[in-house]
Amino acid sequence: MLKLDNISMTVNDSNGGTREIIRNINAEFHPGKIYAITGPNGGGKTTIAKVIMGIYRNCAGNIYLNGEDITELSVTERAKRGIAYAFQQPPRFKGLNVKDLLQIARPSIDDKSLWKNLRDVGLCPEDYLDRDVGPGLSGGEIKRIEIAQVLSRNTVVSIFDEPEAGVDLWTVQRLIGIIMSKYKNNPHATAIIITHNENVLPVCDEILVVNDGMIQTRGTADEIWPLIKGDIECKMKDQCRGEMGYEN
Ligand SMILES: Nc1ncnc2c1ncn2[C@@H]1O[C@H](COP(=O)(O)OP(=O)(O)O)[C@@H](O)[C@H]1O
Ligand SMILES: [Mg+2]
Repeated sequence: MLKLDNISMTVNDSNGGTREIIRNINAEFHPGKIYAITGPNGGGKTTIAKVIMGIYRNCAGNIYLNGEDITELSVTERAKRGIAYAFQQPPRFKGLNVKDLLQIARPSIDDKSLWKNLRDVGLCPEDYLDRDVGPGLSGGEIKRIEIAQVLSRNTVVSIFDEPEAGVDLWTVQRLIGIIMSKYKNNPHATAIIITHNENVLPVCDEILVVNDGMIQTRGTADEIWPLIKGDIECKMKDQCRGEMGYEN
């Protein structure tokens, strides 16, 4: 079980002062469950993910993984303990191909699993295994490879940061199925999905709504989804209108 015990993080702001970007975050994430973190942009969702992964370590409070205090551990140590994070904006690695990247994520991976992991995210292995993970890949392609990398590993806590961004609906539906079968009721693994997606949110066990750096509300999907459904659907429509050129 992953436990966040009163986590807060303060950063320097542009005016020479400081700003608390997440405040008093208390949460427990249990194995076998799928958690969603949602809420407005700038609310603090990615910050929470980076704090769990150890990318941000200048925070107050403590983080426990299966009873061990991991607050002081580096990203590498946390990765070794089985925490994985699929970035909202994944880094590119010029000179490294997709196969290399997946093999670094899981050195024991066999060819069959390599192919399956790429198919699972809607990429054709024949076309992608030798592709350079550099600027030649589109945002959606790099996003899928990032997700494949996390799915390929047997992790204890897997965090997916807006996996739906740049990914088509068909692949999102497929990803939901894969995430459900891999993590739901798995006594050794937890999934945390940062998402606004109307297909993902209702199937999660628990939803945490993060706003203004705090957990504003939380509960089962049955409790929370009806409360936020209207906002999310509205946002989707706005986005769609924007993408279709109806808005500036
Ligand atoms: N390293 C940082 N330094 C300064 N401000 C940051 C840093 N990381 C995030 N922030 C700010 O914290 C707020 C929350 O960001 P973020 O966690 O990315 O939000 P979300 O993922 O919910 O959209 C934003 O206002 C963002 O600009
Ligand atoms: Mg974010």
